[in-house]
Amino acid sequence: MRIPMIAGNWKMNTTIGEAVKLVSEMRTELDKADNVDKIACPPFVSLGAVKELIKGSSIKLGAQNLYFEEKGAYTGEISPLMLAGLCEFVIIGHSERRQYFNETGEIVNKKVKAALKINLKPILCVGERLEENEAGRTELVIAEQLRSSLIGIASPDSVTIAYEPIWAIGTGRAATGRQANETICFIRQSIARLYTEEVAQQIRILYGGSVNADNATEFIKQSEIDGALVGGASLKAAQFLSIVKQASEIM
Ligand code: 13P
Repeated sequence: MRIPMIAGNWKMNTTIGEAVKLVSEMRTELDKADNVDKIACPPFVSLGAVKELIKGSSIKLGAQNLYFEEKGAYTGEISPLMLAGLCEFVIIGHSERRQYFNETGEIVNKKVKAALKINLKPILCVGERLEENEAGRTELVIAEQLRSSLIGIASPDSVTIAYEPIWAIGTGRAATGRQANETICFIRQSIARLYTEEVAQQIRILYGGSVNADNATEFIKQSEIDGALVGGASLKAAQFLSIVKQASEIM
């Protein structure tokens, strides 16, 4: 039985004050949805303040990125050791990082390994570009992203995968529930090929890309979809709460 997960990727939004306000608005209600994993992923600088605020609640915390080295002369980077004890999850390989910060499959792989080494749970993002989708290359692209990200990882049990088609991110043009379910089904089969059927059945796979309070149920009710990675709508308390409630009711 896979516990549904709704994660909010706040991206580069909110000051510390705004982050605290947003979580304060949602805390009590989010806490009530106890059959869903609720993850807030604020910017690095707000992790400490948000951690204090959610103490004693069932809300969990995630970072949006990390560097794969533990320490050293890497100006501006944040290491896994710095996140240990601060948060439980970390988003890795988001398409925005691949696109704007040149993160390759090899870098993503190093980051997943670095996270797992200190028991941080990766939320590994995969997804195809519009041209790739239109050329019928979605499965090829995703299979390669999964293969390269997971090389040398013996047990991906604590990894969550987020399928985020790039053409659906921030565009208001979400995939249909059926499309997302089909691709996520393919991702599960790929995991079964890379590992075992048992591993594939227990790994959580989320959909991300223009999920909001109006379309969340369409995704969450699909047999293969275990929740959502929410961008823009996670910055609005009422929207995020509604998405979590929908997941809680479907359970
Ligand atoms: P939007 O929900 O804003 O489309 O963003 C999705 C996303 O990239 C989450 O990681």
